[in-house]
Amino acid sequence: MKAAVCRAYGPAENVKIEEVDKPTPADDEVLVKVMASTVEIADVRIRALRVPKGLCLMTRMAMGLFKPKYPVFGLQYSGVIEAVGANVKAFSVGQAVVGSNGFHLGAHAEYITTKQDGALALKPESLTHEEAVAVLFGGSTSLGYFDAGGVKAGNTILINGASGAVGVAAVQLAKHLGATVTGVCSSKNVELVKSLGADHVIDYTKEDFTATKDKFDFVMDNVGNASFAKVKHMLKPNGKTLVVIFASAIEMIKVLTNKRAIMLSSDSEKEVLSGKMFSRLMQLAEQGALEPVIDTSFPFEKIADAHRLVDGGHKVGVVPVRIAS
Ligand SMILES: NC(=O)c1ccc[n+]([C@@H]2O[C@H](COP(=O)([O-])OP(=O)(O)OC[C@H]3O[C@@H](n4cnc5c(N)ncnc54)[C@H](OP(=O)(O)O)[C@@H]3O)[C@@H](O)[C@H]2O)c1
Repeated sequence: MKAAVCRAYGPAENVKIEEVDKPTPADDEVLVKVMASTVEIADVRIRALRVPKGLCLMTRMAMGLFKPKYPVFGLQYSGVIEAVGANVKAFSVGQAVVGSNGFHLGAHAEYITTKQDGALALKPESLTHEEAVAVLFGGSTSLGYFDAGGVKAGNTILINGASGAVGVAAVQLAKHLGATVTGVCSSKNVELVKSLGADHVIDYTKEDFTATKDKFDFVMDNVGNASFAKVKHMLKPNGKTLVVIFASAIEMIKVLTNKRAIMLSSDSEKEVLSGKMFSRLMQLAEQGALEPVIDTSFPFEKIADAHRLVDGGHKVGVVPVRIAS
């Protein structure tokens, strides 16, 4: 089968389509023919070791000391089950599914295997494979943080970085939960963020969002420039920050010792990458509460171009890759 393989940390050029062995499902796994995947900031962070200051060694230890341990990237996919292992009861051949093997990656390939009790859920017919895969990364991250923080109807939330993969999902899901949403983005994305339901939008190229007089139950940082110290004055007395990304290892340590700054625990991360979460997202997408926002979609052979677009740091929503048609 064909797979996009990255054998050395570095630029987008290092991602090349190669012929590799097609996987065989174990007894508790399904074999999926991948129709669509996405290139996310997570792929770029691993490929280029572009991680918050002070976390490079930790990333190498997790993802491969000298070269990528999992050379086929790709966090999530949408596809069709082609075969099932002997003990698989929950899924059957021919079903359209969305799935992920988490940080074992592997979705940038024509075939992938996933455990039946892993992050695997049925894809509704009303969504194309590209649409279905496009809500997984941002949707699961946002719901993971909203669950961990307890975001609920009546809350006010500021979403910094409202136009990226996480931001576009967060705006829609916070509105769906009944929160009042302020989005922070650049001028070119103001109309998009409003159209996703944001009640207020701050254009960061014109205004410093930390100068707002409004007070929030939650400040969600998807950019890494809104540390607790910087936004504390914007929080209500019991307000919290949802720290999706931080600037450095020192900031991470500060978050870990601050009860009002929330990062996902390892248990919450398991919830984020679960069949239950993916089913929830498919339902939300089917009912129109979570619409995919697609920047540019690429054919599989142009996957290095997709990496380049994500490298730029200014994509809007998601960058799907069409692996099969
Ligand atoms: N903790 C977790 O479990 C977890 C999970 C997923 C993602 N993440 C992290 O979350 C972050 C966001 O992920 P993503 O997929 O949304 O990234 P992304 O799609 O690459 O974000 C790109 C967006 O960021 C916006 N942006 C850039 N600079 C900005 C600024 N100064 N202020 C406001 N917006 C700005 C850009 O908008 P403009 O073009 O308008 O500037 C662009 O739309 C990443 O750092 C990622 O590593 C963490």
